[in-house]
Amino acid sequence: MKLFELIIPESQRIDSVMRADLVEVTHDTDGLLNEVLEYSLFSGGKKVRPLLAILSARLFGKQREKSLYNLAIAFEYLHVATLLHDDVIDNGEYRRGKLTAQRKYGMIPAILAGDFFHSRSMELMARYGSGELLDIFCEATRGMVDGEFVQLRNASNYNLSVDQYFEGIIGKTALLIGAATEIGCCYGGGNKTDRDAFRQYGINLGCAFQIIDDLLDYQGDEKKTGKSVGNDLAEGKITLPLIYALNRVSSDEKKHFMEILASKEKRKKAFYDIYELISSRNGFVDSRKKAQKLIDQALGHLSPYKSRCDSHAFSILEELALYVLTREK
Ligand code: IPE
Ligand code: IPE
Ligand code: MG
Ligand code: MG
Repeated sequence: MKLFELIIPESQRIDSVMRADLVEVTHDTDGLLNEVLEYSLFSGGKKVRPLLAILSARLFGKQREKSLYNLAIAFEYLHVATLLHDDVIDNGEYRRGKLTAQRKYGMIPAILAGDFFHSRSMELMARYGSGELLDIFCEATRGMVDGEFVQLRNASNYNLSVDQYFEGIIGKTALLIGAATEIGCCYGGGNKTDRDAFRQYGINLGCAFQIIDDLLDYQGDEKKTGKSVGNDLAEGKITLPLIYALNRVSSDEKKHFMEILASKEKRKKAFYDIYELISSRNGFVDSRKKAQKLIDQALGHLSPYKSRCDSHAFSILEELALYVLTREK
């Protein structure tokens, strides 16, 4: 069976649990707030984080009980909260094939709707999880905020190193994915060793996930990703393919490209030149290889669980890691 078919029922159940939960918390809230929440949440997201949390818990023997789903949707809420805020930070125009909430409703409703999801996610984690799980969740949340600050600090540094790039993506993306797999494992009854392995599985998968996202920002099909191509470059965000390429040019060429990168207008006009630069210096190919390596590492952390636990959940977790490398959206 294809991954898609395997996860459709889970994904539908996540949607229906979110819908029921939202009804509960929004019956007397402002009409515009409700509209922004609905617009942002039910718009065809892949729901990778709640899926990972559910499957990690199931791997350790948890059944499909309602409370697991109530816990898992906290990850989608927090994720959507960060997307709402991220689109303000990155000046994002499209998200999931539609105008971003900040473009459609304005910056203030987008920020506040993000705060609403953030707050509800913490509440769910406390109610359906435990103090311990909430600690993991909050630590990842702080790490995400810090990751966006790393990005802010690097905003005008066009000479970014590979290490600086990884510092940013671990914070903004991988920690939450690592928290989803660790919390799922812990909720399912995993011990300390299991939790460490699942955290590592998630963090490696999360880094690869962001590398592919950054590749799609150059090479993706907007109809599939639902986001604008070229936004990272336009916003001056230097990602792995370009870092690799810039490390492979002569000092004269570097000076030339640094001048382009320092000006928003020049950056926008130079998309195809930069694309060509990256391509000719194997920046795309090597970024993909790096993502592949990270997925191999993720699978290495997962593999000891093959025969010990729920084999169905195991194969989906394996497939999900492989899907990260081939995804087009
Ligand atoms: C987008 O995440 C932000 C990144 C961390 C790259 P997803 O690609 O999971 O977005 P949705 O939820 O499917 O829209
Ligand atoms: C991920 O980075 C952002 C978050 C983790 C919130 P991006 O800025 O690359 O994500 P997209 O491309 O806008 O989805
Ligand atoms: Mg963004
Ligand atoms: Mg992106």
